Amino acid sequence: MTTPKLIDNCNRHLNYLRVSITDRCNLQCLYCVPRELMSRLAQAEILRYEEILRIIRVGVSLGISKVRVTGGEPLVRKGVYEFLAKLTQTPGLNDVSLTTNGVFLQENLVKIKSAGITRINVSLDTLNPQKFEQITGRDVFSQVWQGIEAARAMNFNPIKINVVALNGVNEDEIIDFARLTFAYPYHIRFIEYMPIGKSGIKTGPLLLAPEIKKRIRVLGKLTPVRKTSNDGPAQRYKLEGAQGELGFIHALSRHFCEQCNRLRLTASGQLRPCLLSSDYHEDLKGPLRSGCSDEELAGLFLKAVQNKPSDHNLAVHRPEPVCGQMSAIGG
Ligand code: GTP
Ligand code: 5AD
Repeated sequence: MTTPKLIDNCNRHLNYLRVSITDRCNLQCLYCVPRELMSRLAQAEILRYEEILRIIRVGVSLGISKVRVTGGEPLVRKGVYEFLAKLTQTPGLNDVSLTTNGVFLQENLVKIKSAGITRINVSLDTLNPQKFEQITGRDVFSQVWQGIEAARAMNFNPIKINVVALNGVNEDEIIDFARLTFAYPYHIRFIEYMPIGKSGIKTGPLLLAPEIKKRIRVLGKLTPVRKTSNDGPAQRYKLEGAQGELGFIHALSRHFCEQCNRLRLTASGQLRPCLLSSDYHEDLKGPLRSGCSDEELAGLFLKAVQNKPSDHNLAVHRPEPVCGQMSAIGG
């Protein structure tokens, strides 16, 4: 085991690296980027897979043991399955997973599994096909749902379904989503909407986790599930008699910064120590492409860690948009 070296000024041990491999996406969700403002990084600005793998190897030498591949939509990038196979073979990583919108899931599950991925998180904000099209701009709800079902048939476990909770959009489906856990082993996770970057959503009153929990209680008691050391930020619960779980990601209503164990690598090669603080990031791509050594890269990791803010400023009463785009940072 590597001696952990990524320890910040608040004594947080950072062992989880989220890697956005592309800012491109085949959906245009209304809360993500307004359709007319979709921008794309030029190919040369995006890290090559070999560059990403080298950065990850350096991260592992400092104590990174968990990597999540995100986007944009990671499955739209050419060569992603070969990349995943190399990534899961990286010595020292004990958890490699993928967050996807599920559109290309079904046809690629065999490749994903052969690459060594055993669990996935799928974004799905509605169970209604018409509403799905309104949210994402594409009429592909059944493709996503079939992908999730096919993943279950292939024993991916757990399968987490991410639902960004939005007043006026899907607040009427909270119970339906929660009810899914009786029939399916899925982990349904309600995520508080984070105002980050330019978004097509006008933030009215936010739909926060305490309110969602309150509504779900009509289905029964929510029993907490003990967290494991590899867990992400979700607070986990189970309804009595359910196969699946419910998770709540209190991005605004209760900050979990003191437990944050994450760093983020953006598609353009910036190491970002906090999703919601845009004032600092460390450029890795420049030094990497100018021939820096692994020791120098490690130094940049340590610098980013020393600059990790103790907390972010996003608050329920002051939901000021954070700079950056979710599609480039990877959620
Ligand atoms: P696992 O529990 O390991 O499956 O991972 P995860 O929940 O971290 O992954 P996922 O990509 O599914 O993220 C779920 C949601 O949590 C997304 O909306 C992320 O933006 C949010 N999230 C992840 N890390 C952070 C964080 O550090 N701060 C905040 N505020 N939100 C986060
Ligand atoms: N607020 C909360 N969650 C978001 N996601 C994307 N944008 C936002 C936002 N503004 C979610 C996606 C995906 C996960 C990685 O982040 O739905 O499931």
